[in-house]
Amino acid sequence: MILLKENAYKSYSLCQMQESDFLYVKKFLDEQRNQLDKIEFFYPYKDEELKAVLSDGVFWGMFDGKRLIATFAIDLDEEYAKQIADIINSSRKTSVVDKAYESSGLMVDAEYRGHGIAGFLMQTAVEEARLRKINICGVVHTLNIASMSTFFSRGFTLQGVWNMRKGYDFVYLLKRYNEYANNQGLISEKLLQNSEKYDIIDNIEYTEPDKVIIHKELLAKGYYGISCKNNRITFVRDKKGGNL
Ligand SMILES: CC(C)(COP(=O)(O)OP(=O)(O)OC[C@H]1O[C@@H](n2cnc3c(N)ncnc32)[C@H](O)[C@@H]1OP(=O)(O)O)[C@@H](O)C(=O)NCCC(=O)NCCS
Repeated sequence: MILLKENAYKSYSLCQMQESDFLYVKKFLDEQRNQLDKIEFFYPYKDEELKAVLSDGVFWGMFDGKRLIATFAIDLDEEYAKQIADIINSSRKTSVVDKAYESSGLMVDAEYRGHGIAGFLMQTAVEEARLRKINICGVVHTLNIASMSTFFSRGFTLQGVWNMRKGYDFVYLLKRYNEYANNQGLISEKLLQNSEKYDIIDNIEYTEPDKVIIHKELLAKGYYGISCKNNRITFVRDKKGGNL
């Protein structure tokens, strides 16, 4: 691993993990995943996928002293970036992106959650994507409010849905690099303050199996998911059909 910055966030150090850290990272992810109430919230890497992200992507590790306490990554696989773009584009009325690189491996040690560590790592990834001029996308289980909140609060928007199999419904949370210049803060706050310009839906009551269907319908009608609260996602669209 390479030390990027000491005291990067609070007293924790930020490192870039490498392929030689494979077993160490895998052990951390497996141990933390096994402790989750809902194990489906963290979809595990296959060994070869984790090795590829460590060697060819950007893989951050946060350390408290010598203890690995959090991870996050950007997978730079080109083919996968095109597949993600296809899923997003097929959910929308018009094509949105040609590539979206997955931001994956978001895990904070259970003892360290709720202190802003994921928020810091998300900001780090957003900055990296801006420098590289790449779109990034989080693929998140539809019930994982903590993870969705972390993406939404850094300006990602829900632009795709995918039902993998029963119990595994995912949302695609996209951040386009060319949105960064005018999109640093909470996108939802800006939009909701301009309610005369936007159609806003935040009060849908629906049962779990219908969720993907309803999300799909809204995306096809030009809505974007912009935030979540109490297990409900707020969707908005420009009344004139423009981008947000
Ligand atoms: C999701 C996870 C990474 C969040 O890490 P964290 O360090 O506790 O998150 P932070 O304290 O930085 O909070 C980030 C944002 O999410 C919100 N949040 C965090 N936990 C939350 C929860 N349980 N419920 C609702 N919102 C939550 C925070 O309020 C914060 O929002 P803000 O930036 O608008 O203030 C952590 O819960 C985790 O590791 N979960 C298990 C693995 C997992 O689900 N990974 C995601 C795979 S896609």
